Parts: sequence; C-alpha cells; structure tokens
Amino acid sequence: MNRLKMNYSFLTFLVFISQAFGDIKPQQVHISLGEDPFSMVITWVTFEYAPTPIILYGPTIATTLRYPYGHTNNFTYNNVTRYVHTGTLSNLEPNTKYYYKVGTIEGWSGLFNFTTFPAGNDFKFRVCCFGDLAYRHGNIILDLFDAARNGWFDMIIHVGDIAYDLHSDDCDGNCGDKFMTELEPIFSHIPYMVIAGNHENDHHNFSHFHNRFRMPGEVGGHHNNQYYSFNLGAAHFFGVSTEHYGYMDEYGKAPILSQYSWLTSDLQEANKNRATRPWIIGYQHRPFYCSNTECHEDDEPLIRKGDHDIPGLEPVYISNKIDLVFCGHMHSYERFYPIANLVSNGGNGYDSCKDTSSVYHNAAAPAYIVTGSAGCHTPKTSFGSPHLGSACRSDDWGYTIMSVYNHTHIHLYQWSVDQQRNVDNIWITKFIGNFTAPGPTT
Ligand SMILES: *[C@@H]1O[C@H](CO)[C@@H](O)[C@H](O)[C@H]1NC(C)=O
Ligand SMILES: *[C@@H]1O[C@H](CO)[C@@H](O)[C@H](O)[C@H]1NC(C)=O
Ligand SMILES: *[C@@H]1O[C@H](CO)[C@@H](O)[C@H](O)[C@H]1NC(C)=O
Ligand SMILES: *[C@@H]1O[C@H](CO)[C@@H](O)[C@H](O)[C@H]1NC(C)=O
Ligand SMILES: *[C@@H]1O[C@H](CO)[C@@H](O)[C@H](O)[C@H]1NC(C)=O
Ligand SMILES: *[C@@H]1O[C@H](CO)[C@@H](O)[C@H](O)[C@H]1NC(C)=O
Ligand SMILES: [Fe+2]
Repeated sequence: MNRLKMNYSFLTFLVFISQAFGDIKPQQVHISLGEDPFSMVITWVTFEYAPTPIILYGPTIATTLRYPYGHTNNFTYNNVTRYVHTGTLSNLEPNTKYYYKVGTIEGWSGLFNFTTFPAGNDFKFRVCCFGDLAYRHGNIILDLFDAARNGWFDMIIHVGDIAYDLHSDDCDGNCGDKFMTELEPIFSHIPYMVIAGNHENDHHNFSHFHNRFRMPGEVGGHHNNQYYSFNLGAAHFFGVSTEHYGYMDEYGKAPILSQYSWLTSDLQEANKNRATRPWIIGYQHRPFYCSNTECHEDDEPLIRKGDHDIPGLEPVYISNKIDLVFCGHMHSYERFYPIANLVSNGGNGYDSCKDTSSVYHNAAAPAYIVTGSAGCHTPKTSFGSPHLGSACRSDDWGYTIMSVYNHTHIHLYQWSVDQQRNVDNIWITKFIGNFTAPGPTT
C-alpha cells in the first residue's frame, strides 16, 4: 500500500495550494463502490497527462495520501484524448464521513465528501434507480439535486443510456463531459453505479463506457464493467449487459457466453448466502417485459430466452429466485407482477397502481421494474394496451427509490417529477417467521 502520513507543513502546502486550471484540472469527479462496501473507487478526468495523480482523504479532513490503485486510462476518441484516473480507498471505517480531494501537485479538485455504509448486513439503505438520462432534456436532474441534498438516497444505479451520448459532441461540446461535470456534485458524494445501454455503443467497443467508469469485479477480476456484482447490506446486486445481445453482429457471441458463464456461477454463489443476504437484485438496460406502443408482448426474446447456442437470461433469473430486476430503455415507468416465461402470477391485466403488496410476498418469480423515464431525447413514450402482468404504469418523468429495510422488507416508490408526488408505492416482502433459503431449483 502506498499510503503515507504527511508532515504538517507539507500538508498545509497541499491543502492551500491553488486549484489547477485548464487541461490538467481534475474534472468529472465521481465515486463508485469497490469490491466491498468499505472500498470506494474515485475516478476523474484530465485532458492533459497528469503525472502521479493522487487522492488526499481522511475522516476529519483530507490528510492521508493515496496513490491511485492501478492506472491512468488514456483513451482517444475523435482525436480527443482523455486521461481517466482511478484510485481505490479501501479498509474504510463503516458509517463514517470521509473528505477527499484529487489531483496532482500541479493542482487539486475542490474538497468532496462521502459517507460509508454501516457494517454487517442488517441496516437500511436507499437506492435511486433510473435509466435513460440525457445531458440535454435531462428532466429529473433538478429534482435529483434536491433529493440528494435532502438525503433521500445512499446510492445511484443508472440502468444505461447515459448523457445521450457519452461520445456525442452535440451538447455545445461533448455530452459525456458535460453530463459528468453537471452531475459531479451528486456523483462525487453518492456512489454512482452504471450498466451499459444501447446508447453506450460508440462503435469502438463501448470505449467511453469502458474507460470512464470503474465497477466492482475489476481488480483481480475480469476487467470489464459490462457485468459485475457486489454485496450491500442484506442484498446481492448484479448488473448485466443486454447490449452484448443487441450488438452481437458487431462484437460477436463471445461476450454473451462469458457473461452467461459468469452470471450463473455468481448467482449460485449468492444463493448459498441467502440466509444472511436474502435479496438478489439485478439490473439491465433492455426490459423483457413492457407495454408501450413500441413494445411487443415478448420484446426481447433473444435476451430473455436465448436461441440455439445463445443462452438467454430469464431462465437464470427464475432458477436462482431473483427478487427484483430494474430495466430502462422504454422511456416510462412500469411495474410488473412477479412474472416468468410471459406468465404473471398475481395480476390479471393493468391494475392502475393499486396496492398489491400481497402479490409480492414470498413471490415465486422476479418482479420487473422499467424505470426509463429520467428524461432524454424523445418525448414521453406512450403506452399501448397493457400487458397482462402490468401492475402500474406512468409516463411522467421520474425516478424510482428502493429502500432495503432489512431481511424481510423492501419498499419501492416512483417519484413523479411532473406531479411532485409518488405515483407508485409497493412493499416487497418475504420469509416472515423462520427464514428458509430457497436455493436454486433445477
Ligand atoms: C498516458 O499518456 C502519457 C503521456 O502520453 C504516457 O506517458 C503514459 O504512458 C500513458 N499511459 C497509458 C496507460 O497509456
Ligand atoms: C483526426 O486527426 C487527423 C489528422 O489531423 C485527421 O485527418 C482526421 O480527420 C481527424 N479525425 C477526426 C474524427 O476529427
Ligand atoms: C458534503 O458534500 C455535500 C455535497 O457536495 C455538501 O452539500 C456538504 O456540505 C458536504 N459536507 C460537509 C460537512 O462538508
Ligand atoms: C471489447 O472489450 C472487452 C472488454 O475490455 C474485451 O474483452 C473484448 O475483447 C473487446 N472486443 C473487441 C471486439 O475488441
Ligand atoms: C423490517 O422492516 C419493516 C419495515 O420497516 C418492519 O416492519 C419490520 O419489523 C422489520 N423487521 C425486522 C426484523 O426488523
Ligand atoms: C424457527 O426454527 C427454530 C429451529 O428450527 C425453532 O426452534 C423455532 O421455534 C422456529 N420459530 C418459528 C417462529 O417458527
Ligand atoms: Fe435504450
């Protein structure tokens, strides 16, 4: 570990040194969870090569020096080279506020802070989940700032389609840089977890997505942020790429097969730990189920059930008793009853967001939430005739908040930015009384 304590005068020099300007100035500072909840990964961009990037951090003021783990990623797109710096702070104290700044001796970012999660697996935490959020037409962004300021959530999951697009230059500059700069006050403070959507395909093997974001599973793992998992409190989270299927013609079958083999073993492992971590929650960009006008009864059959030598994802979700899956891609909100192989158990047609929590008690199949209504390049996406499994639909701009209370209770609500109120509220519950781990069915 390259961790040094510095003497006071050097520290004073570092803390009061003027901020950098121009291309060496750190920008787009954001954080994401590391390999465990007590590791935080800090990532930032410079447009000039910055030798020896460092992070200063500490629980009262930023006093500990950390050289970034790993590397500076250089990547060039349309003749612009970005230097993406990453550092992992590990062995952090639980439930502790940390202050940090990033940069080099030539100049620093401002001072940021984040708070680590409590220890153990029995604490409440809240996740803000949305998909399809643009720099321009980013309808939820102002509300998101309010919600972050009010402490409504402890982590963010963006289920793909980021900035429209990370690689596009039609936002008075590059949309990815503009988006990550605009949202830096939130993303530098609250872990920002991402998965790729179709808009992340920059036809250079997702180079912007791959280089700009660090997700767990990379250190000593498969070095690929397209799919990964992590544990937090009473939940195991996993993110998978539906774009491996969507762009199979461009990148081949290999990514589908390696993701599938990783996913099956990851979920089998997670299932063994169900007594201590009962919830398994997935996220992906394209939904299997939706009922917009542009959505078919079986919208993504290849991704859902596969074809010949291409394995689909739904059988893995069903056999491993996944509780909940968040998706985006359709620019609206829709909640499904527990559903498997196109058949829902519970609902019988659109239920106008009635409180049907009982259907979600010890559910035998995953519940799917489409939350792609954060605001992007299209007008609101209209709904067609409802899917039989559809429990709640809203075409208001908004985002979903999931509160994992404990081993038995998850609460979900959908915040409508248009109406400034919740348009959906639901409890998902299980295993009241003695816990019995389900284990995979075969
Ligand atoms: C990044 O670019 C700098 C300057 O061109 C170079 O010295 C460095 O080796 C590069 N690093 C990587 C990982 O390519
Ligand atoms: C990149 O630079 C080269 C050499 O200056 C030029 O020929 C090319 O058109 C540029 N490409 C783009 C996408 O700007
Ligand atoms: C921590 O960061 C948040 C978000 O930037 C900021 O509002 C808050 O004032 C900071 N807290 C402290 C104690 O500096
Ligand atoms: C795309 O990137 C992934 C992850 O870095 C890598 O494993 C894969 O080989 C690349 N595919 C192509 C076609 O370059
Ligand atoms: C879990 O949280 C729910 C909702 O707050 C609460 O009613 C229940 O008593 C909690 N269960 C335990 C074991 O704390
Ligand atoms: C739970 O299981 C234990 C051990 O099998 C048993 O002693 C206890 O009575 C059970 N509790 C309930 C509420 O069923
Ligand atoms: Fe999409």
